[in-house]
Amino acid sequence: MERVDPFSLVANELSLIATRLRSMVAAEVPNLASAAEYFFKIGAEGKRFRPTVLLLMATALDVHIPELSPPGIGDTLPTDLRTRQQRIAEITEMIHVASLLHDDVLDDADTRRGVGSLNAVMGNKLAVLAGDFLLSRACLTLASLKNTEVVTLIATVIENLVTGETMQLTTASNKRFSMEYYMQKTYNKTASLISNSCKSVALLAGHTAEIAMLAFED
Ligand code: FPP
Ligand code: MG
Repeated sequence: MERVDPFSLVANELSLIATRLRSMVAAEVPNLASAAEYFFKIGAEGKRFRPTVLLLMATALDVHIPELSPPGIGDTLPTDLRTRQQRIAEITEMIHVASLLHDDVLDDADTRRGVGSLNAVMGNKLAVLAGDFLLSRACLTLASLKNTEVVTLIATVIENLVTGETMQLTTASNKRFSMEYYMQKTYNKTASLISNSCKSVALLAGHTAEIAMLAFED
């Protein structure tokens, strides 16, 4: 069977999202502007794994379009729903980058994505504030979707990220070799964001709780 590169299926949409993200994170105060846009600049955007998965999930859940012939699987569906699902990809990226900015402060990191980490380049204080700013922009985008169930899921993701990072930072010695503790920490730190975002993509499409749960789990 011919192998399809999943990233190429949504390449056009990914660059649309990248352009929109750059305008979403624009700030008036110059230092905050440079700090907030740092990881959205061309070359520092990372693998874009999360937006790719979310767009592919949106396509997989689109039961009304029977002939999904690659390439350009997502690019052929510029419906209002698809735009709303792209917003989830944008929110997810902003939250992800915010968490990395804070993580690099906590870890006193020197590099991120092959360049200097923001804390190393601009200092801890601006890195923390830039993370907060990205979260605020993610909240604004989330509010624009006017879907309280999705707001609840994404708010829970932020709680999970903070909880997971704290669990890692403060592991008691009796939990250090506990598989259950490790799995819980890893769900909070890593899985919750992509799972709940996939669930949000399903809910925006009007799918049942059962289908939304499958999107969460798979
Ligand atoms: C990378 O960990 C860090 C995360 C996946 C999440 C970090 C979460 C926080 C700092 C909580 C605050 C959250 C928000 C939304 C502001 P790592 O150090 O294991 O991986 P790395 O090698 O990529 O640094
Ligand atoms: Mg780290």
